[in-house]
Amino acid sequence: MAVIAKHCPDIKVTVVDINPEQIKKWNSDKLPIFEPGLDDVVKAVRGKNLFFTTDIDAAIKESAMIFVSVNTPTKTTGVGAGRAANLRMWELAARHIAKVANGPKIVIEKSTLPVRTAHSMRRVLNANDRKIEFEILSNPEFLAEGTAMGDLTKPDRILIGGMNTDAGKKAIAQLVWVYKHWVPEERILTTNLWSSELSKLVANAFLAQRISSINSISALCEITGAYVQEVSRAIGFDHRIGPYFLNASVGFGGSCFQKDILNLVYLCESFGLDTVAAYWNQVVIMNDWQKKRFSMKIIEKLFNTISGKKIALYGFAFKKNTGDTRETPALFVAGHLLEERAKIAIYDPKVDPEQVKHDFEEYKLMPAGCKFEDYVTIYNDPYAAAKESHAVAVITEWDEFKTYDYSKIYASMSKPAFVFDGRNILDHAALKQIGFDVFAIGKPFGSKISMDDLS
Ligand code: UGA
Repeated sequence: MAVIAKHCPDIKVTVVDINPEQIKKWNSDKLPIFEPGLDDVVKAVRGKNLFFTTDIDAAIKESAMIFVSVNTPTKTTGVGAGRAANLRMWELAARHIAKVANGPKIVIEKSTLPVRTAHSMRRVLNANDRKIEFEILSNPEFLAEGTAMGDLTKPDRILIGGMNTDAGKKAIAQLVWVYKHWVPEERILTTNLWSSELSKLVANAFLAQRISSINSISALCEITGAYVQEVSRAIGFDHRIGPYFLNASVGFGGSCFQKDILNLVYLCESFGLDTVAAYWNQVVIMNDWQKKRFSMKIIEKLFNTISGKKIALYGFAFKKNTGDTRETPALFVAGHLLEERAKIAIYDPKVDPEQVKHDFEEYKLMPAGCKFEDYVTIYNDPYAAAKESHAVAVITEWDEFKTYDYSKIYASMSKPAFVFDGRNILDHAALKQIGFDVFAIGKPFGSKISMDDLS
């Protein structure tokens, strides 16, 4: 919305939320999320044509278009629990719009939703007894966290789905007009509603599939002596494959990939497409396996006993340049190490310590009888986090991790000192030179077939 406001000075954008705390933060100097470049844009347009308020009803009344961006988490109970999207928030929002609206509106699905949600929402909206006509559009968001401002300013594409009726086409044209303020027309794709809704799920499924594919190969590399980064590079030169999203890692995280694939799997299952469902489900299974493989490797290399040993996790966010921790692989790794009663030291340049604590509670990571304070310490200094630890495990690919003085870190650690590089970002040869035992995803671990040993 901030980017729309920036590029469309002729449009008034009002962001509403039922949570007053959240709105207060959006109106303050410290925005509630960290996203490079966002502060500047918000501060440039806030109070001019971008407003944050809790007065939802007034905003509904005065707006011609309403983007609904409420969360659609995976259902935890009932039919489809663990896979289907929970559409409660969406339906509540639609009902509220129908109740409050004083004239026709274009209601836009911005949240990622299962295919044919628009159908149900259209019915909910148009069931109002005042004969107000609502037109529904699907306009999924493809930005990635950490690069959001660039993704929004120069999007690969804008996707708008709508009904194939005169009113539907008119609504599509109105939204195209908004984006045309800064996006070249050839990048604005218009489709039917269901194609648009499905494309969002499929885009994320394909992206996640690439990561699971390369992660599966990383396991093979570790055994055979191939380097996964060299394999990624070699295959990425084929223009049909392309170089992006081929970084083997400790596993993908974030609020979207797993949720959206499970959603797709559920959708396929509900239409009886069991083989298709199983195919996509394997992407998630592979990701879980990769996370587990990483934490198992830590346990195994630390002589199969980590009880009471301090292990430093470098990074807690699910990727660099964000403070977001949703579904971060760090949670899985920390949880597994805690089961073995390791002492976890966490350093992340952007994640709020309160968030870490909250995540441990929400995911119930503390084993019975263990107190968070006794087992987990959050540091604001990476050197202090590593001090007296047996291992440093890189979970997030923050650039600053490459710049540290690893000789100093080595000197302060228990010996033998290990580095587990879950992102392949450090200089492994230099670390070995210092004295570290190094395990990196997709590289053989100090075995006879290591190319480092041969060179
Ligand atoms: C993802 C998609 O990339 C966006 O296009 C989409 O709009 C968004 O989900 C969404 O549906 O909201 P995001 O989750 O913000 O964006 O971040 P990604 O850059 O896709 O990274 C996801 C995870 O995959 C991270 O944990 C990242 O570290 C991991 N990853 C990514 C890898 O392990 N290897 C790679 O090569 C790339």
